Amino acid sequence: MDKLVIEGGKPLSGTIVIQGAKNAALPILAASMLVEGEVTIDQVPRLLDIDVMLGILRELGCRAEHDDQTVRLDTTGLHSSHIPEALMRQMRSSIFLMGPLLARFGEVTIYQPGGCAIGERKIDLHLSGLQALGAEIEEDGSRIVCYAKKLKGAEIHLDFPSVGATENIMMAAVLAEGLTTISNAAREPEIQDLQHFLNRMGAKIIGAGTDTITVEGVEKLTPCAYQVIPDRIVTGTVMVAAAATRGEVTLLNTCPSHLTSLIHVLRRAGVQIAVDGDIIKVGAALRPKAIDRIVTSPYPAFPTDLQSQVMVLLALADGVSVMKETIFEGRFKHVDELARMGADIRVDLSSAFIRGVSRLYGATVEATDLRAGAALVIAGLAAQGKTVVEQVHHIDRGYDRIEQMLGRLGARITRFSPVPNNTVVP
Ligand code: UD1
Repeated sequence: MDKLVIEGGKPLSGTIVIQGAKNAALPILAASMLVEGEVTIDQVPRLLDIDVMLGILRELGCRAEHDDQTVRLDTTGLHSSHIPEALMRQMRSSIFLMGPLLARFGEVTIYQPGGCAIGERKIDLHLSGLQALGAEIEEDGSRIVCYAKKLKGAEIHLDFPSVGATENIMMAAVLAEGLTTISNAAREPEIQDLQHFLNRMGAKIIGAGTDTITVEGVEKLTPCAYQVIPDRIVTGTVMVAAAATRGEVTLLNTCPSHLTSLIHVLRRAGVQIAVDGDIIKVGAALRPKAIDRIVTSPYPAFPTDLQSQVMVLLALADGVSVMKETIFEGRFKHVDELARMGADIRVDLSSAFIRGVSRLYGATVEATDLRAGAALVIAGLAAQGKTVVEQVHHIDRGYDRIEQMLGRLGARITRFSPVPNNTVVP
């Protein structure tokens, strides 16, 4: 497994371009299975999760090429709607294929994606949403088979505004007969991006970005070319890294309006932020101020995907901060690792109490999941001395060669890959 070695204590400085959004690209790739023909998607980041998704699409008979940031798909040869269990288990986002494959083939077989490092992550809202559209669902152990000769529009209320369930239901409803309304829908920007993509192919969807989405079913879609939005979580990660290292960075290709809650939090911590169109400038010369309470909640509130990164900043702040996690029950795994670096954080149920220290120290730590890993990288950049972050494959799921991106901002960060067994070392 790869490791990142970081020589900390150097403020980040410079300009970088932000990658396309993983969480927008994944459902858009899945939604491409609704149409027959060639689809081109731009600004698709080179990530492990994207590789897994493209691997599944190829397995189902789709032609898929990822050249730099562009994915070219040809869905003409798509012949199967059975996602092999081994591939399904590699990535939870394979669940996104359920709605599109069901709509296109009238049946789909998937396997429970199972729990993961950050929590239980159920799929009941995905299943009940598809059932409301007329799908019959048979569960046999971890195998789930879904049938529907023709999906029919319905009024669906989500008990919780799940991002994935909202997207899955939208995708299934596009080719359904009649009108579908999703109430208490998730409002994340990636859902708006999916709406724009589907509408460009001829779908009739309105309301994404609000809590009520209406989908008027159409007979057929037409292939298109599309560019995904910039990644707000990668943007936020670099903003926090700049603040934690007391650096000064300029980020190009951002969507500042998608980061209102983070910008508000960082300003409260004393970080200087200037926004100009799609450019964000971040500067921090002083020690951050503590923040009494940050609560993660569905968009537009503070995102769970930035909780661990901001915790690193607060671990260095002057005073005591509190962060409450309300989305995933297992999302404080970075706390023990940060403690190895000298952080003073106590977790009580879903809240973390963070007593800021004046300095973190380099240590060997382990990335337990994607965003926890990103937080440890930030901690390593801000810490005094050398930090080794292990299990980097988690970070590679969401950050396109993180060491290169941060290296462009002057970070001293190097990736080490294990020497393969059959290599003769002279
Ligand atoms: C998406 C994002 C992920 C982000 C999360 C919350 C992608 C690929 N991933 O994940 O990065 O952290 O939104 O912003 O877009 N739930 C149920 N039943 C369901 C579905 C969800 O109980 O059927 C629960 C989950 O267990 C969790 C909460 O709802 O506690 C939020 O999950 P959800 O919004 O569905 O997140 P994802 O779509 O999995």
